[in-house]
Amino acid sequence: MTQHLTIVDHPLVQHKLTIMRDKTTSTAGFRRLLREISLLLAYEVTRELEMTTTTIETPMQTMEAPTLEGKKLALISILRAGNGLMDGILEMIPGARVGFVGMYRDPETLQPVQYYCKVPNELDARMTIVVDPMLATGNSSVAAIDLLKKQGARNLRFLCLLATPEGVARMLEAHPDVPIVTAALDAGLDDHGYILPGLGDAGDRMFGTK
Ligand code: URA
Repeated sequence: MTQHLTIVDHPLVQHKLTIMRDKTTSTAGFRRLLREISLLLAYEVTRELEMTTTTIETPMQTMEAPTLEGKKLALISILRAGNGLMDGILEMIPGARVGFVGMYRDPETLQPVQYYCKVPNELDARMTIVVDPMLATGNSSVAAIDLLKKQGARNLRFLCLLATPEGVARMLEAHPDVPIVTAALDAGLDDHGYILPGLGDAGDRMFGTK
């Protein structure tokens, strides 16, 4: 994945995203669609996993067949909204190692405050996929990736549902080596750091809180 930003414009992704954006979609519907969309996004974000071959016997003959190489990848959820994206990806990659970074945005400054970090070992040897549905200001994503790099992560990807030009620019400036995969690039941010047109508060939509 040489490009910094990949927008997954597959019709199924775009259709599901439209229903998720709609404010009349229920919590249960939102959660189901998030799971479905994350399966499709997982396919794109793992496109560059390293491969090797292994010798197997089919019922017909011996063959050298492709298989994943290297250490199991690490999925890092940025709490709490990252968990909704992660569930579907884990169905696709059940052997992945999982970590959590807890960040909240100070509502006044919009700056990230870290309150939790627990990540898999040997991040330096794993593809590390950071998941957070909303790349808004980019502040918390940049801070989470700073933290993961300090823990050794080198081969990183960032997966979200919605991104803004501001968030993408902030990531490009701070972490040009981290490709971003998103379902859409929205217009921008409101004064509170919410994405426009967006889908509202992703955590509230998926967990039914307000
Ligand atoms: N986080 C959200 O949940 N929604 C936004 O629009 C921005 C950040």
